[in-house]
Amino acid sequence: MLEYSKKILITGGAGFIGSHVVRLFLTKYPEYLIVNLDAVTYAGNLENLKDVDHLPNYRFEHGDIVDEKTVDSMFVTYKIDHVIHLAAESHVDRSIMDPLSFVKTNVLGTSVLLNAAKNSWKDKPEEKLFYHVSTDEVYGTLGKTGYFTEETAYDPRSPYSASKAASDHFVMAYHHTYHLPVIISNCSNNYGSHHFPEKLIPLMINNILNNKPLPVYGKGENVRDWLWVDDHARAIDLIFHKGRPGQKYNIGGFNEWKNIDLVKLLCRIMNKKLGRAEGESEKLITYVKDRPGHDLRYAIDAGKLNRELGWKPSLSFEEGLEKTVDWYLQNQEWVRHVTSGEYQKYYNEQYAKR
Ligand code: NAD
Ligand code: TYD
Repeated sequence: MLEYSKKILITGGAGFIGSHVVRLFLTKYPEYLIVNLDAVTYAGNLENLKDVDHLPNYRFEHGDIVDEKTVDSMFVTYKIDHVIHLAAESHVDRSIMDPLSFVKTNVLGTSVLLNAAKNSWKDKPEEKLFYHVSTDEVYGTLGKTGYFTEETAYDPRSPYSASKAASDHFVMAYHHTYHLPVIISNCSNNYGSHHFPEKLIPLMINNILNNKPLPVYGKGENVRDWLWVDDHARAIDLIFHKGRPGQKYNIGGFNEWKNIDLVKLLCRIMNKKLGRAEGESEKLITYVKDRPGHDLRYAIDAGKLNRELGWKPSLSFEEGLEKTVDWYLQNQEWVRHVTSGEYQKYYNEQYAKR
């Protein structure tokens, strides 16, 4: 193990964002050991890493972050000196159906990881870091104007965002109480390849392709700030290496879209790709019952990250969406795999009554 200059535990590396982060770190830093701890829930998929899982600096550990023994053993076995924590229950609609599993993984799981880090990192804090990946949803909702900054007060409104807010508070509490070196980043909505098709963009791509109704919640007026997933991974890389311990950084796309406009843009892109007439996929748009407690608008001010570390998104939304649609069209086997079985049950429960 001694030959690796950093031994990094990445949790949730089989998921959407985690797999992009694992790929980036494995390929960019062959001198780092990357240990991916993932329970491989419905949202995790080891196929997401099949192009890099042969690399010598990669280890996969199948396990639950809630389990203290498993987590402690990671620190002992691999002499972990850095954590990038992404494992979470991540879908708002599921948190409305089953809030307690969010409390378990997001709050208890994060606390178990923090405690293991605290217990095993007794010296040389300057050589350690607990990097917690969080969301802009902890800030609650915006009206038509304004932006979330790092100083915006937390005001979470869904079980998902409440569980992420609680986890952020535990991270900061471990920093203030035990001097654990931590960083938190709060990012806006991501999109890109390997995104589980329960979330807006991949769900709409899948339904357009299969001529299924496109379920737009409420009037489709809610606004999200979309960021290409690899730009999020680049931001994590930058903050991990150059960010200041004890600090929070907001990451956003400078890219606000009303849901209905986004769905129409996807329809236009896919009409072209699928050789459909103009306006054809748009006929599938179906307004359905709104999500309970649906946050109106998220918009991030990522100025601190830009000023301090020079980060900005690399892709325009149109370019990113084209790439994303192409990936889904070329990876139908992946889609078939993840949407078989449990997905159908979830989909029926979530959309049948709307
Ligand atoms: P995801 O649901 O795609 O993946 C989550 C991963 O965590 C999966 O591989 C799953 O198997 C694993 N996991 C879940 N519970 C676990 C447990 N108890 N123990 C071990 N592993 C477990 O999520 P994502 O969209 O990739 O999000 C990753 C992180 O980024 C989350 O912390 C999320 O809150 C945050 N985030 C996501 C977005 C977004 O737009 N998706 C935006 C900002 C922040
Ligand atoms: P989602 O991808 O679930 O992300 P989040 O709720 O974390 O922002 O949803 C993005 C937006 O799209 C949100 O305003 C809810 C809306 N939405 C729909 O209108 N229909 C859908 O089927 C889904 C999944 C989401």
